[in-house]
Amino acid sequence: MSGSAPGSVTVTLDGTNHTAKMPLMAGTIGPSVFDIRKLYADLGVFTYDPGYGGTAACDSKITYIDGDEGVLLHRGYPIDQLAEKSTFLEVAHLLLNGELPTREEMAEFERGVLHHTMVHEQLRQFYNGFRRDAHPMAVLCGVVGALSAFYHDSLDINNPDHRRISAFRLIAKVPTIAAWAYKYSVGQPFMYPRNDLGYAENFLYMMNAVPAEPYHVNPVLARAMDRILILHADHEQNASTSTVRLAGSTGANPFACIAAGIASLWGPAHGGANEAVLKMLAEIGDKSAIPDFIAKVKDKNSHVRLMGFGHRVYKNYDPRAKIMERTCHEVLDELGIKDDPLLDLALELEHIALHDDYFISKKLYPNVDFYSGIILKAMGIPTSMFTVLFAVARTVGWISQWKEMMEDPLQRIGRPRQVYTGHSQRDYVAVGAR
Ligand code: CMC
Repeated sequence: MSGSAPGSVTVTLDGTNHTAKMPLMAGTIGPSVFDIRKLYADLGVFTYDPGYGGTAACDSKITYIDGDEGVLLHRGYPIDQLAEKSTFLEVAHLLLNGELPTREEMAEFERGVLHHTMVHEQLRQFYNGFRRDAHPMAVLCGVVGALSAFYHDSLDINNPDHRRISAFRLIAKVPTIAAWAYKYSVGQPFMYPRNDLGYAENFLYMMNAVPAEPYHVNPVLARAMDRILILHADHEQNASTSTVRLAGSTGANPFACIAAGIASLWGPAHGGANEAVLKMLAEIGDKSAIPDFIAKVKDKNSHVRLMGFGHRVYKNYDPRAKIMERTCHEVLDELGIKDDPLLDLALELEHIALHDDYFISKKLYPNVDFYSGIILKAMGIPTSMFTVLFAVARTVGWISQWKEMMEDPLQRIGRPRQVYTGHSQRDYVAVGAR
């Protein structure tokens, strides 16, 4: 395939040159892309890209990643500046609406979110249908999906007011639903949200407080939680976001789409990795066992991976991992944890991996999840809730991407093609003759 006239590409098929119209599209930053929409009409062939590593499925103004340089921008703002200086709700406004809010806009946005934190009382009944030992991601997925049965007044996806209120409802209610999933698993009473508290503070309150005594949320931990939420808020077209977009492209309501996103996030290659990192550290157990573990990771037949390492897009240090590591030290200091064996083990593992040719040659660096599990564990969050917390944060990214898609006049149903490798047509054979 070679470039020819501007906007077209010459392709050699079976020894014959064919010209197809494939305009080059340029983003604001980042590599240009071929627009292949006319390829099938012009040449009668499709493109093949399992895992979509070389395919842009949409254009978006929300998040930019330069994986080689380790850069992450939300609406142009670097993630480290947002994590240091902003708050989760301010970042939510930025992702949803495109700009950092003025003081007045922020007050209105906060009011909008915080006045939707309660869930319909009937929804409490749903929890009783789950086993107490159900994974909280299973509960989250089910209960968030059920929200569409409660808010019929805001399900017209073509109405901007409905889209706005659904976004508020999701951002506000997901922490309540998540905290209740935890309370249910430990048999404690559900704590109703408190709208006088900040977003992260309220989540920690609903997780940790009990009605029998007052509970004060540690401000350092609330700030750390807020930062963890910021770091997980959006990450352009990852698997769960693409799932939300694909579900949304059919016209499904936003609650159903976010439930689909939660299901997609659950896997250990995606949001389940922070839980998997802690399990891995527990299995390694001691620094002396690291060489054996690394040998297993390198053995292709073992199917063991160094969890919290590697990324589809980052071929450099994930910028979120650096901030996460700093936050980890802050949290451990605040909690007076001088020597955390898990952190020691993680640091040693990281050091060894960063100097090992296997990881260097494959450009495998720590990702956001390598340290987040250690922080959350130190904060007393149970391991099974780690991915749930990721989902709480990512709800903002999902709903922002869904909203952007719904406002895009070029939006159409998502429908990948395939290379069919099955039987060609054959005749049915009666059961006795098979
Ligand atoms: N440990 C060991 N080897 C790895 C790892 C790892 N964590 N990640 C990739 N590789 C190897 C892989 O075996 C392959 O080797 P080869 O070329 O010899 O076959 C090569 O690196 C490329 O791997 P890949 O699976 O083709 O890469 P991918 O882009 O499809 O996968 C990933 C990306 C994140 C799924 C993968 O790196 C992984 O499984 N990491 C561990 C799980 C993890 O930490 N996930 C969290 C991602 S960040 C949070 C989020 O966005 O959800």
